[in-house]
Amino acid sequence: MSTKADTVVKKGYNVEEIRAQFPILKELVNGKPLVYFDNAATSQKPRRVIKAESAYYATINANVHRGVHTLSTKATEAQEAARETIRKHINAKHAHEVIFTSGTTAGINLAAMSLGQLLLKKGDEVVISGMEHHSNIVPWQLACEWHGAKLKLIPITDSGEWDLKQVPFSDKTRILAISHVSNTLGTINPVKELIAEARKRGIITVVDGAQAIAHLNVDVQDLGCDLYAFSGHKAYGPTGTGVLYGREELLERMPPWQGGGEMIDTVTLEKSTWARLPFKFEAGTPHIAGIIGLGEAIRWMEDYDFAFAKASAEQCKSAFAAHEHLLLEHASKELLTIDGLRIIGTAKEKVGVISFVIDGVHHYDLGTLLDQQGIAVRTGHHCTQPLMDHFGVSGTTRASFACFNTIAEVDAMVDGVKKGVNMLR
Ligand SMILES: Cc1ncc(COP(=O)(O)O)c(C=O)c1O
Repeated sequence: MSTKADTVVKKGYNVEEIRAQFPILKELVNGKPLVYFDNAATSQKPRRVIKAESAYYATINANVHRGVHTLSTKATEAQEAARETIRKHINAKHAHEVIFTSGTTAGINLAAMSLGQLLLKKGDEVVISGMEHHSNIVPWQLACEWHGAKLKLIPITDSGEWDLKQVPFSDKTRILAISHVSNTLGTINPVKELIAEARKRGIITVVDGAQAIAHLNVDVQDLGCDLYAFSGHKAYGPTGTGVLYGREELLERMPPWQGGGEMIDTVTLEKSTWARLPFKFEAGTPHIAGIIGLGEAIRWMEDYDFAFAKASAEQCKSAFAAHEHLLLEHASKELLTIDGLRIIGTAKEKVGVISFVIDGVHHYDLGTLLDQQGIAVRTGHHCTQPLMDHFGVSGTTRASFACFNTIAEVDAMVDGVKKGVNMLR
């Protein structure tokens, strides 16, 4: 779905060419063309990713790192090629700093459990922010509980940004765990600045990059973080895949989190020793097809997005993000014409995520009415209940844009919201 307005938007950015890569966009939902605005939950997959995953099963399916036979070697090479693609994309120094996980949640749990054991003792402190996803709250609550440490919060402002005047660093702070981009508000956080401050104090830094990886040029060395977690499925890759980047020196010191095959060097009944990086943190058979698909998703993004290919730390926003920003501006302007509508999250720096509430309209009812028109948005607390409490709402309606969305689709959503409001109020 695109209109004349999209011709203006595209200027060197061919949204129709990008849309043609996504088979699902031809689907009808409830008899209407699909308008998919739930990309922050999971993005749609381009044909190349779907093909790469099924080609693994159809032609080289075998376990990795385990056999001398030809298929196992091919599967290992394909998986390790994906690791190298990701290493380059995030500018890690070494491929063995890229640990495959099942997603951001798994990456942060690994970080919290392992760092907890390595660093935390009674009275220590872990700092997170008030806008974290539950995945970057609960693992730290568990680690703090187990080691007698305390969780401290960076408060957030009414516009949905960190209040940098109130960062609760102290001489007891051991870990800073923060999101690069908020999934609910879209805020792009000044992670580099805060990491620099933390490093001066010897604090270990963990970044939740779940919402950044598909929109920003993530350069882990430039950010200066110790650990960086993201999910493949939010960056046009398969579900059940993810990465935890870790600085080599720290990973060497961290104890393994899960035990099993592949993560050991030697095992006796009395004691085991650990495999070299990254395998120390990759117990069991990985999601090989998914990892190969994730490598292809990253290559696909780089092929279609000149800014990713340039990977300049200065030019932080990708071409996809610039396109999504135009959609965000248009959506914000049009939605604000609706009486009683309030946008939650008005930071200066945002990715294409817009959360809103409307007086007298429940987000769940609105989401259901939009779905009847083929428009997929998210409703609820978006796994950020403390943030909802901060804004005094039970939930929001959230539209989150991707590289393939259009102005015409935004207009369809705005029309749908107007109709919904008329029916519900
Ligand atoms: C900011 C943020 N962190 C963590 C997660 C968890 O990601 P996953 O469910 O892929 O592990 C999400 C998912 O929505 C997220 O938006």
